[in-house]
Amino acid sequence: MSHNRLKGKVALVTGGARGIGFGIGKKYAEEGATVIIADVLEEEGARAAEEIGPAASFYSIDLRSRKAIFEMADKIHEQYGHIDILVNCAGIARPCPTLKLSEETLDEVIDINMKAPVFTCQAVGRYMRKDGGGSIINISSGNTRMINVGRVPYGITKGAINLLTQQLGAEWAIYNIKVNAIAPGWIRTEMVERPLRTGILNEEEILSVSPIGRFGRVEEVANLACFLASEESNYIVGQIIFADGGWNTGIMPNALNYIRENDKEEE
Ligand SMILES: NC(=O)c1ccc[n+]([C@@H]2O[C@H](COP(=O)([O-])OP(=O)(O)OC[C@H]3O[C@@H](n4cnc5c(N)ncnc54)[C@H](O)[C@@H]3O)[C@@H](O)[C@H]2O)c1
Repeated sequence: MSHNRLKGKVALVTGGARGIGFGIGKKYAEEGATVIIADVLEEEGARAAEEIGPAASFYSIDLRSRKAIFEMADKIHEQYGHIDILVNCAGIARPCPTLKLSEETLDEVIDINMKAPVFTCQAVGRYMRKDGGGSIINISSGNTRMINVGRVPYGITKGAINLLTQQLGAEWAIYNIKVNAIAPGWIRTEMVERPLRTGILNEEEILSVSPIGRFGRVEEVANLACFLASEESNYIVGQIIFADGGWNTGIMPNALNYIRENDKEEE
């Protein structure tokens, strides 16, 4: 359902070739935005843009390069004249017991999950300031409140994203640049399907700590990302919003079974 809430806006979505980023790009286009999907996956990225339709295009980039990020922002701004929305969605997980963690893996996760969003914020933020404002949405993680063991690189970089959001939310509000973050819970994208397949994650265990009792949908994150990109959220600054079906309440495993068994309506 389109309300044209983002009509006339130009949105850059990193990691938009698939998963959550793709869902956000699709939603933005449905709401009237011009969408640029920036991703390292060329085939999937091109296909994603095609699937979204004429409002979307694909920009091929490895976000590990600061130079490439600034070039991308320059080119997009030159082409469209403004960049109104930036979504930092590209990310990797690389689960691994910490005693086995290599410097190479740590560097890779820091480069993609932490440094790239800082650079995209700089590269796009300078244009947003010049053009009168914008909205930045960083994709954090439920892991910044709930711990998954074996995820030190992921957890610490997503924690940094929360603080980046608070820092820039406070620093750039005077430029009318609104910076917020979404911390999703469990969404069945490739990032979650792969560890489910290999047994690192277990579906029943995940659901046992989910008050809502199910995985989330990409569309549910995209709806929130649309709200945060639109003017409906203009008084929300520097916030990390959890879209996780209540996982971060810290409910005990299977705790709802007691409620289910004892809260039956009287006949
Ligand atoms: N799926 C979940 O349950 C979940 C939960 C919390 C947070 N997140 C976050 O949501 C975001 C999207 O993840 P997803 O679940 O859609 O996973 P995904 O693996 O399907 O998508 C990640 C995207 O980032 C891109 N990417 C990775 N490295 C890149 C690089 N160097 N340069 C450019 N693009 C690169 C990938 O190509 C891919 O398209 C990530 O930041 C992830 O941490 C996901």
